[in-house]
Order: sequence, then structure tokens, then C-alpha cells
Amino acid sequence: MEKIALITGSKGGIGSAISNKLVEQGYRVIATYFTGKHECAQKWFKENGFTQEQVRLFELDVTDTDQCAERLAALLNEEGTVDVVINNAGITRDGVFKKMTAESWKDVIDTNLNSVFNVTQPLFATMCEKGGGRVINISSVNGIKGQFGQTNYCAAKAGMIGFSKALAAEGARSGVTVNVVAPGYTLTPMVEMMKPEALEFIKDQIPMRRLAEPQEIAEAVSFLVSDAGAYITGETLSVNGGLYMQ
Ligand code: CAA
Repeated sequence: MEKIALITGSKGGIGSAISNKLVEQGYRVIATYFTGKHECAQKWFKENGFTQEQVRLFELDVTDTDQCAERLAALLNEEGTVDVVINNAGITRDGVFKKMTAESWKDVIDTNLNSVFNVTQPLFATMCEKGGGRVINISSVNGIKGQFGQTNYCAAKAGMIGFSKALAAEGARSGVTVNVVAPGYTLTPMVEMMKPEALEFIKDQIPMRRLAEPQEIAEAVSFLVSDAGAYITGETLSVNGGLYMQ
């Protein structure tokens, strides 16, 4: 039977690469997009040449707890199941802590971390009842090592790692694995937004001397959701070109 994977932030750099990879692997992908971004999502859908069977666009504000509970319950009814959840939606609001506003803090925690609760909670019980499933949380090298100018982002990305270990313990007996993929600096619009001198400074610290391609992150996700990854849970897989080695 066809497997269903839900991906948040699916039309961004890494999300899009993951969507493409999972479609290639035969998954039906539920691609969530932010409220009001329907045209943009449609454009992405068309550009990638997906069919309605391969990808279903699904409007969802991942920061809205009630809306997620309601819409994801309806989705489960309509689709029958969700086998894989990929929490990928994320934003940055970089700035030194002394100047950081409460709004920048809250926006990042809501979108990058509270979203993980909002999206996983309505789907997790069904995965356990079914006796299997995968949750993959897309964190960051900066959630592991810390990064100047990113107290909000690092807090959220580190929070995803703690969350994943705890939920892995809860899901294990039901065959539901929970893992983290921690990308390094990747060629995406998020990284392109950085000040060029800050990015150059970072690049000089990457032993592989280049940024990651989004497809390289998607390959790690693809492995963890495959049968080959069935016994891996509570783990963080770094894909960072050697930028930080634990
Ligand atoms: N370590 C120590 N000091 C640093 C530093 C660092 N890494 N970076 C900057 N500084 C120092 C500067 O030298 C400067 O010192 P002086 O005042 O003595 O000259 C001071 O801190 C202020 O630096 P900026 O001029 O850069 O300050 P700013 O307010 O203009 O910019 C900032 C601050 C926006 C945080 C900027 O430093 C920046 O963009 N940093 C990079 C943040 C980053 O890596 N973001 C990643 C985004 S992509 C992503 O997050 C994806 C992912 O998962 C990897």
C-alpha cells in the first residue's frame, strides 16, 4: 500500500528537496504551506510537475495549535493514515541578544519549535495504534554548537533534539521512530538571506569548503524513513561537511 508523508515547509529549499525525494520513492506527499500562500504553493507544484496523487497541497499554520488539531484530524479521516511526519518549517530572525526583541524570540520559537508539538501531536497516537511510523525533525548544526546572533534559533533547534529523544522513548514499543537530521549551512533562500561577509566567515570554517546541496539533506531523511533505518531512533544525524563534529 502507498505510504503517506506529511512535510511542513515543503516548498522551501530543503523541504522541496525532501518532497521530491519522497515522491521519487513512491510516497504520497502532503505538502503543507502557510496560510494565504496558495498561489505560491500551486506554482511550486506545477514547476515540479507533480500529479495530484503524488502531492497534495495542504494549507496549515504550524504555529496555530487549534488549527493544526482540527485540520490534521480531518486529514487523517480523508487519507486514512499518515506514516511519516517531517517537521521542516523554520524561520530565522537573527540578531545579537542585546538587541533581540520579544517578537523575534517568539516568532522563531513558535515556528521552529512549538510547531513540532502542534503538528506531531494530532498524528502520533494514530501512528502508535497502527504499529509503525517515522517522525523526522529538521534541526540545525547551530542547535548543536550554538551560533553568534541566533539565541532564538539555537534554542528552538536544540529543543527539537530533546523533544525527539523523549518522544523516541515513548514511540519505540509501537515501532514509531523519532529522529533528527541536523543540516549544516545549505544552499537555500534562508542562507542566501545572510549578510555576505557573515556567510564568507562561516564558509571558511567548513572543512569541506562548500555549503550543502538541499538534496544531500534529503538523502539523509530518505535513509531514516526507509526500512534500512527501522532500528535507529532518538538519534541526530548531522549533515554539515565537518563544520561541527560531536
Ligand atoms: N563570533 C564573535 N563575534 C562576532 C561573530 C562571531 N561569530 N560575528 C560577529 N561578531 C562580532 C563582530 O566582529 C562585531 O564586533 P565589533 O562590534 O567589535 O566590530 C559584533 O560582533 C557585531 O557584529 P555584526 O557587525 O555582524 O553585527 P550586526 O548587528 O550587523 O549583525 C548578525 C549581527 C545579524 C547576527 C550577524 O553577525 C550575522 O548575520 N551573523 C551570522 C548568523 C548566522 O550564522 N545565521 C545563520 C542563518 S542560516 C541558518 O540558520 C540555517 C542553518 O540552520 C545553518
